[in-house]
Amino acid sequence: MAIERLVEPTLAEDNLEEERIEVSLRPTTFKEYIGQEHLKKNLQLAITAVKKRNDGTTLDHVLLYGPPGLGKTTMAGVIAHELGASLRVTSGPAIERAGDLASILTNLKDGDVLFIDEIHRLRRVVEEVLYSAMEDYKLDIVIGKGPAARSVRLDLPHFTVIGATTRTGSLARPLRDRFGMVHRLEYYKQPEIEQILERTAKILNTEILPEATELLATRSRLTPRIANRIFRRVRDYADVNGDGIIDTVIAEKALDLMEIDALGLDPADRNMLELMVANYDNRPVGLNTISALTGDEATTIEDYYEPYLMQLGLLERTPRGRLVTEKGRRHLQNVKNVL
Ligand SMILES: Nc1ncnc2c1ncn2[C@@H]1O[C@H](COP(=O)(O)OP(=O)(O)OP(=O)(O)O)[C@@H](O)[C@H]1O
Ligand SMILES: [Mg+2]
Repeated sequence: MAIERLVEPTLAEDNLEEERIEVSLRPTTFKEYIGQEHLKKNLQLAITAVKKRNDGTTLDHVLLYGPPGLGKTTMAGVIAHELGASLRVTSGPAIERAGDLASILTNLKDGDVLFIDEIHRLRRVVEEVLYSAMEDYKLDIVIGKGPAARSVRLDLPHFTVIGATTRTGSLARPLRDRFGMVHRLEYYKQPEIEQILERTAKILNTEILPEATELLATRSRLTPRIANRIFRRVRDYADVNGDGIIDTVIAEKALDLMEIDALGLDPADRNMLELMVANYDNRPVGLNTISALTGDEATTIEDYYEPYLMQLGLLERTPRGRLVTEKGRRHLQNVKNVL
């Protein structure tokens, strides 16, 4: 993946500046966390129940899944905060050996929350250790080698795992089954994105007019991370080309500069749809073929491009492959007419 896309929902691993800003914008309570009402209601109930019982039982393990940038990591922090628990953060690829997991687990305290990001990327041997740890707070380890080896069972503190993944399909069934709560994060509604933008403007001390907020919200792929990213770019534009206040004229010009169209698609999205139409007209195209056409990895297409394009009804998944819909074709034509 060579080009850095502005609307890329993922956070580049080396983008420290953005990471710093994301942390400063991250809500820490249910009250601050905008949207995902269904998820919040469920979690709030479960957390209240745990606190009310106050008998040492912990919150059920929670699995959060959905496209990148919708607030999974943020929600893990909120859950820990609302529980009054400490949060330990790790990720699937970071836990290389079963021993790494063992040391994380034995260092937890009762009631702690362990956040495992990209949990679908856990290694098999690590995953197996996690099963019994999640199920009955036991750790099975083998001590010694060869004929002298023996297996011991250690008691672990009662903790809660919060797993996050963009792809539940690639999660092993036994692992998935160990989560008492499994929730999908949904794309945000337009007014919710507006609220998020208003909140961001306040935190970053920037004035934005309501019509401009509305405009930016329509271009943000219904995704908070992208809303915040676009906001910062537009703010730069306003600082350089105006008096720092974001109105519709400034917003419009900045969005044009970024080549983000009326539906929030960027050149890379449009390029993918165009290549599909140009090469296959209205025949379905296999994922690997699309990947060859665009030069993106198949998983990138599945995780990042597709969900939003499908949400908008521009792209369809059929048993025989992906298809650009009539609406998708019309959109491409409209954009061409405008440019
Ligand atoms: N509900 C929300 N209200 C306000 N801001 C939010 C909300 N959800 C997410 N954000 C903002 O969007 C940013 C990205 O969210 P987060 O990192 O939690 O996404 P994610 O789902 O974990 O993404 P990934 O799959 O890439 O790990 C956060 O830093 C936060 O500023
Ligand atoms: Mg995350």
